[in-house]
Amino acid sequence: MLIELESVTKIYNQGQPNEVTALDSIDLRIEENAMVCLRGSSGSGKSTLLSIIGCIFPPTSGRAAIAGRQLARLPDRFLTLHRRRSIGFIFQRFNLLPALSVMDNISLPLLPLGVPPAERRQRARALMDRFAIRHRERFPAGQISGGELQRVAIARALVNDPPIILADEPTAHLDTGLSQVFMDLMAELHAAGKTIIITSHDPLVTEHPAIGRIIDIRDGRIHAA
Ligand SMILES: Nc1ncnc2c1ncn2[C@@H]1O[C@H](COP(=O)(O)OP(=O)(O)OP(=O)(O)O)[C@@H](O)[C@H]1O
Ligand SMILES: [Mg+2]
Repeated sequence: MLIELESVTKIYNQGQPNEVTALDSIDLRIEENAMVCLRGSSGSGKSTLLSIIGCIFPPTSGRAAIAGRQLARLPDRFLTLHRRRSIGFIFQRFNLLPALSVMDNISLPLLPLGVPPAERRQRARALMDRFAIRHRERFPAGQISGGELQRVAIARALVNDPPIILADEPTAHLDTGLSQVFMDLMAELHAAGKTIIITSHDPLVTEHPAIGRIIDIRDGRIHAA
């Protein structure tokens, strides 16, 4: 799905003493089936940019469109539906539910889509196997390690087979082998037609042959694209 941003600005706490301009008039076009890396130092606006593309919150000003549809014009109900069906978001801070099991966290996005229980479990287990966390299936997410949480967050984002994958520093807590497993899967999904945006500094990501473009962001502005 084509992603288009036009003059996108995001100001946190606008009008307050703690006001921050996180994104400053961003123009960006990411073609359907692109696989791009978004790179920039801490605080440069990477997570904010992904959140706007992922419909987590709207920009303060400017326009964001996916597949030719202006997100601001969609009623909330459609925006929620779009997010559930079209977006797989791997959050930098995971955003898992600590009291729920690994299995329930991973299969949760399939509930509102009406996927039957047996298929939910089967899809979740396929991803657990791929990321070697099947032995944690019944553990509450609040009782597993950082790297395990990262893998659960990856599996949860991919379980609904979304056309757009937004991955915020997905390898930050993974060792080299698991980072490679992640990038191999991304390359496969890219070959299958997905549009993928990954924020990272990790050379395993930035130098991966499947990455077609690196976008540099600095102080909320795009520098090279
Ligand atoms: N919820 C928020 N409220 C206020 N300011 C915020 C909020 N989230 C981010 N910011 C600020 O906006 C700017 C951009 O933050 P963002 O999280 O997008 O950066 P980032 O590039 O993802 O950084 P990192 O590499 O550390 O994850 C930073 O100055 C940050 O402090
Ligand atoms: Mg971030």
